[in-house]
Amino acid sequence: EKGGFDHFMLKEIFEQPQTIFDSLRGRLDPVQQSITLSGVDKIADKLLAANRIIIVACGTSWHAGLLAEYVLEELCRINVEVEYASEFRYRNPIITDKDVIIAVSQSGETADTLVAIENAKKQGATIFGLVNVVGSSIARMSDAGAYTHAGPEIGVASTKAFTAQLAVLYLLALKVAKLKGTIDTTLYHRLMTDLAKVPEYVQEILDEQDAIIKEVAAKYSDARDFLFLGRGYNFPIALEGALKLKEISYIHAEGYPAAEMKHGPIALVDDQLPVVFVATKDSYHEKIVSNIQEIKARKGKVIAVVSQGDNVAAGLADDVMVVPLVHEVIAPILSVIPLQLLSYYIGVNRGLDVDKPRNLAKSVTVE
Ligand code: M6R
Repeated sequence: EKGGFDHFMLKEIFEQPQTIFDSLRGRLDPVQQSITLSGVDKIADKLLAANRIIIVACGTSWHAGLLAEYVLEELCRINVEVEYASEFRYRNPIITDKDVIIAVSQSGETADTLVAIENAKKQGATIFGLVNVVGSSIARMSDAGAYTHAGPEIGVASTKAFTAQLAVLYLLALKVAKLKGTIDTTLYHRLMTDLAKVPEYVQEILDEQDAIIKEVAAKYSDARDFLFLGRGYNFPIALEGALKLKEISYIHAEGYPAAEMKHGPIALVDDQLPVVFVATKDSYHEKIVSNIQEIKARKGKVIAVVSQGDNVAAGLADDVMVVPLVHEVIAPILSVIPLQLLSYYIGVNRGLDVDKPRNLAKSVTVE
């Protein structure tokens, strides 16, 4: 049942070329340059007239939502808020019929997310569900939606569901941007082309980096704390990297926007602290390079996820995990893969039950 893998988590990490492909299949047509998402068509008038989009989710799904905020605001020029479902539902938020809520949930059963959309619906908002489990409560509660086609995710730590969420959120952003006319043709084509190739790129990472990451993991498995830093599109990936590591390895880890480290976390840096930089090439790459230099100057150990061919960031880091060079908007769906593997191998090295970490449930159906 684990298909020859030691754990479901590893099996699910390695399934991602297929699950991302499945989530794009029949939807993304890079030749015709078209995107089919019937759920978006169904509420297109609402989406185009929306004052704002509110993304509601928990945990890893919230991280997918945070990335979607960056992408939707950039490509569609719509105001986007990202809310922890548990906070949103209890704080009497201001919601009108001009709001579109996107609920992101693997299980479709997370209690806080479900009640949050139930409340928003009562106040007139339109609900779009991005869910993996077909027929689940959140899917049924939604006015429209799109399924991620990740297949059943058994590992408690979400991996393939996350990348499937990103794949569909990219499709949604591209489709809405096209409908609104907020994206120029060159960028639209470029992003579609890169997105269509993501399954191949993920395969390349798995083929070429797995053994390297296993060695990196061996070096850091006894660390007490970890810091994960990223900027822009890679900031949500830093948060996700930290969450994955704490779930699986029980190592304390924090994710931060790279530039925020100077406002506090830099006090933690010494020669014992591994700092993971999600540092793929983007428009502010030199900024994260100088953040890496700041950590090195304080003798921190730097592990960097870098784009192929980037000798500058790679040259500064103690350990490097390489991903193919793609457009900065698409890069996060690749940069998360090495972080999943890193957490997995550290958890295994520590002798832990990576598929069922202590205290965690696959879906949190109680608040
Ligand atoms: O099923 P959902 O996507 O609604 O679940 C949300 C979170 O409980 C979930 O992502 C959790 O954070 C995972 N264990 C993360 O790996």
